[in-house]
Amino acid sequence: MDYFLIKGKSKLSGEVKISGSKNASLPMLCASILLKKPIKYKNLPNLSDIRFMLKILQGLGAKVVKKEPYIKIHFKELANNEASYDLVRKMRASFLVIGPLLARNKSAKVSLPGGCAIGARPVELHLKVLEAFGAKISVKDGYVYAKAKELNGTTFTFPFISVGATQTAIMTAVTAKGKTVLKNVSKEPETIALAKMLNKLGTKITGLKTDTITIDGVNINKLRPGLRSIKLPPDRIEAATFMIAASITNSKIKIKNIISKELEILISSLEQTGVKIKKAKDYLTIDATKLKEIKPFDIETSAYPGFPTDIQAQWMAYMARAKGSSRIEEKMFENRFMHVAELNRLGADIKVSGNLATINGVEKLTGAPVMATDLRASASLVIAALATNGTTRINRVYHIDRGYDLIDKKLKKLGVDIERKKEGKV
Ligand code: EPZ
Repeated sequence: MDYFLIKGKSKLSGEVKISGSKNASLPMLCASILLKKPIKYKNLPNLSDIRFMLKILQGLGAKVVKKEPYIKIHFKELANNEASYDLVRKMRASFLVIGPLLARNKSAKVSLPGGCAIGARPVELHLKVLEAFGAKISVKDGYVYAKAKELNGTTFTFPFISVGATQTAIMTAVTAKGKTVLKNVSKEPETIALAKMLNKLGTKITGLKTDTITIDGVNINKLRPGLRSIKLPPDRIEAATFMIAASITNSKIKIKNIISKELEILISSLEQTGVKIKKAKDYLTIDATKLKEIKPFDIETSAYPGFPTDIQAQWMAYMARAKGSSRIEEKMFENRFMHVAELNRLGADIKVSGNLATINGVEKLTGAPVMATDLRASASLVIAALATNGTTRINRVYHIDRGYDLIDKKLKKLGVDIERKKEGKV
């Protein structure tokens, strides 16, 4: 297994280009199951999760051809309609194939994803949605069996906002008979990107960016990929991670290939701590060079446009160096504080009670060996390591490779002393 060695304190300078969005790519790749014609994607990030999703699609019968800068997927035939436990347990997002498989094939057999480090992450809402379209659902030996003679448009109100369940509903509704109205939907940019892609393929989804979207089902054979490729939007969580890295190291950097509008709550939160940010439509400059001390700022995570839970761990690392105490309330997942113990090993002073973390900022962090436990926790350890006196060894960086495209190369280019090492090799 690889590990990182980061020699702090770091100073970042220059500019970084953000890669395509992991969390938009995963559902948008699943949507290729709906198409009998080839579809080309551009700006897919080079991540292990994406490579894994492509393997899953190939297992379902897709021909995948990589020709820089495109990846072409052709689902001429479905080889089978099963996503096995061995695949789904490794990446929860693989469960998103269930809606498109049902829409295309009227049947699907997909393993229940099981839990992960940040929580139980059940999928009962996805199943309720599929039943609302008329699917017969049964769960046996850890598999979900979904069958439907036909899928009919429905009106469904989500009891709570779920990104994945909204995406399952949209990908099922687009070829269901008649109209579907979905209420209390996810407004995450990744969900909007999926819907916009489907509209480009010939579906009729309206009400995007509001709490209620309406979908007029179309015949699946009418879906056309068109000649242009589908361009993936930039990864707002990666952008946020670099913004926080620049802030904690009193640096000034330019971050390119972003959609500033999607980062509003992080921009305003960072400005509250004293960071200066100049934003344009698709890039921003973050300047923390005059930041004498980081002002503490409380956050609570919530669905978009609230503070993203995927930036909570990174924010915590930043608050570990604030002048004073701050609080973080994690309201999206029940166990998303695995990074606390590791940050405390670096000298942070963080206490957890339930879903509330209290961070007492410290003068300095000291290097130590730490363990990445999940994707965003590993990003938080990298951020802390940048502000640490001495060398920090971050083990199990395969977690970070799931969601950050060449983060060590990008940090090195910004001036960070970071080495990727192979376990067992000095
Ligand atoms: C997506 O996960 C993201 N993953 C997550 O990013 C992100 O943290 C999450 O949305 C919230 O923004 C991808 O897009 C691939 P949810 P998802 O359904 O769809 C509960 C990362 O780091 N729930 O909005 O799984 C669930 O347990 C990852 O990139 C049910 O109880 O999230 C959670 O507590 C981590 N039953 C809450 O809802 C269900 O049927 C929100 O989950 C579905 C969800």
